[in-house]
Amino acid sequence: MKPWTILVTGSSGLIGSEAVEYLDRQGHKVIGVDNNMRRVFFGPPGDTLWNLERLKGATRRFIPIALDIRDREGVMTLFRENRFDLIIHCAAQPSHDKAADIAILDFEVNALGTVNLLEAARHHCPEAAFIFMSTNKVYGDAPNEKPMRETETRYDYSDPADYEGIDETCRIDRTMHSLFGASKIAADIYAQEYGRYFKMPVGIFRGGCLTGPSHSGVELHGFLSYLLKVALSGKAYTVFGYKGKQVRDNIHSFDVVRAFEEFARNPRAGEVYNLGGGRTNSISMLEAISRIEELTGQKINWAYSEEARKGDHICYISNLAKLKSHYPSWGVTRNLDSILEEMVAAEREHSQKG
Ligand SMILES: NC(=O)c1ccc[n+]([C@@H]2O[C@H](COP(=O)([O-])OP(=O)(O)OC[C@H]3O[C@@H](n4cnc5c(N)ncnc54)[C@H](O)[C@@H]3O)[C@@H](O)[C@H]2O)c1
Repeated sequence: MKPWTILVTGSSGLIGSEAVEYLDRQGHKVIGVDNNMRRVFFGPPGDTLWNLERLKGATRRFIPIALDIRDREGVMTLFRENRFDLIIHCAAQPSHDKAADIAILDFEVNALGTVNLLEAARHHCPEAAFIFMSTNKVYGDAPNEKPMRETETRYDYSDPADYEGIDETCRIDRTMHSLFGASKIAADIYAQEYGRYFKMPVGIFRGGCLTGPSHSGVELHGFLSYLLKVALSGKAYTVFGYKGKQVRDNIHSFDVVRAFEEFARNPRAGEVYNLGGGRTNSISMLEAISRIEELTGQKINWAYSEEARKGDHICYISNLAKLKSHYPSWGVTRNLDSILEEMVAAEREHSQKG
């Protein structure tokens, strides 16, 4: 197969960096766009420059560019100068809670930035597969309407029909999303529209909890990564609401990128997929705390606040049936224990380096 020219946005972030490394290893030419805006959103702990440096050492052909996806002219020029075969769009303001403080910036990065990229692709490479990383927050808190039962450590769906989790038919309006969920919906619908209206091969992946060793985890984004940091540093952690029994499904960044690869080889126009770790990789806050304590041998210093985060999911498990039916070679390959063990090792190494 002829090597591709690939654009990855958010290339210093968790998913973008995994995509860069994986695709570079396969011999493709990967251009990465990232302006370290995670540091602007979250301050020094969100700085992704360490990951950029790591990537430079780990790749052979990777070309990083510090472009802001809000810069429409800059984006157009990039597309004019490079004929992309594949675009993987992961740059974002990724935090549910942060968005309320930076409403305009959140909209400009998530919604407008995505339209800038879609429009540039439409003009310069409409046949290139375009992958947009969306979020399960587009469903707002509609998943909370599912009947639930409570066990000692978690909430779970009580109707057997919901056992495999939330599928793509869940409604996306008339629910509370947070401004982040709203700006991502705008981008999600635009991406679908470029698929349907212009027949471009655009895939939309609505992520559950995406995780892995390259996350610059901060309190407002990257729950497992941040919890691990807290465990290893002895800092305090707050669990918000639902008695700590809220459930998330976690997927390793490698399995996310494998889904992108399957889509890129056989793209469809405007298709939406839920993408998470599924039931087997689901864990509640309480369960995560005790599993991480076991793994690290360190007690987590956590407190409970009655007030749940606005629009937070009580139990979210991604139903993966549609993705698996369209791409049968894809599946979750990293289980929770192996994800956590890898993250503990990476976090220890990262904190030793300072
Ligand atoms: N991590 C999760 O749990 C999760 C869950 C669901 C969906 N998602 C989505 O997946 C995608 C990737 O998430 P992630 O966890 O890798 O996030 P991340 O914050 O680790 O990476 C995003 C990267 O984009 C860069 N960026 C931000 N604004 C930019 C701009 N204007 N121009 C150029 N670069 C910019 C940041 O510096 C950062 O390195 C995002 O769209 C996010 O909304 C993530």
